[in-house]
Amino acid sequence: MGSQQYIQVEKKEEVAIVRINRPEKLNAMNLDVIKEMGSIMEQLDRDDSVKVVIVTGTGEKAFSAGADIEYMSKISPLEAEQYALTGHDTLNRIANLNKPVIAAVNGYALGGGCELALSCDIRVASKNASMGQPEVTIGICPGWGGTQRLMRVIGPARAKDLIFTGRRISADEAFQMGLVNKVVELPQLMDECMNVAKQIAKNSAIAVRVSKTLLNRGMDSDINTGLKLEIFGWTVCFTHPDREQRMTAFVQKK
Ligand code: COA
Repeated sequence: MGSQQYIQVEKKEEVAIVRINRPEKLNAMNLDVIKEMGSIMEQLDRDDSVKVVIVTGTGEKAFSAGADIEYMSKISPLEAEQYALTGHDTLNRIANLNKPVIAAVNGYALGGGCELALSCDIRVASKNASMGQPEVTIGICPGWGGTQRLMRVIGPARAKDLIFTGRRISADEAFQMGLVNKVVELPQLMDECMNVAKQIAKNSAIAVRVSKTLLNRGMDSDINTGLKLEIFGWTVCFTHPDREQRMTAFVQKK
């Protein structure tokens, strides 16, 4: 997938594992990291050989410690705006990728790291994970979608608790809040994510893609719009040969 400085991509069968590779800075995302992540996601979106993407961080300590504080300490408001826009581009691309994205949260997921995990569809955390939105402790608000996506995942009261206090929560608390889907021991994390990914990859890619779009669009629509979209999505599935093959196979086996 071309040469990247900060992001590694490994393909295993129909699953692409995308790793932020800046462990010496706890996988903090400077402008280059977030841009590289965006261009990799653009390529994976078009790659039909990939059915599920897993995002994680290199090492045993961090998924990502967030936006790069050293960089942010020096930038102007206009540069900050560009940094936020680039973060939004990349995270929106992940959220809207035409295939599911699983976050394998292998340690600290703070600030932009938590927002990166929130842009994914499913989050699996290792026991040592520590999550939070500590932006207010350094004088800023969340800037890569945290004020919007966190409350959609865990509800506004819990989101306000985490964003206003800036406190870090353990993997178990994140699970209790519904911020992560599952918690496993660190050595089992990638196997667990691969199991989920393979289970998804066995299914009809078009049906999964339509389902993701309907869930995403429905989240921000009134129920009647969401339900109407569901009828369109369902009908689209009937235009695809995959549906006919899978249904016929089921019927014939019987
Ligand atoms: N941006 C830039 N560099 C970061 C970083 C970030 N968000 N998070 C960690 N680093 C760097 C540290 O500066 C240090 O670099 P150095 O070795 O060159 O000094 C290296 O990563 C290791 O971090 P360190 O703080 O020494 O590790 P720790 O185990 O003592 O603490 C954390 C881990 C995650 C608690 C701590 O690094 C931290 O609070 N990071 C910032 C998290 C944050 O506020 N993120 C939101 C940003 S909006």
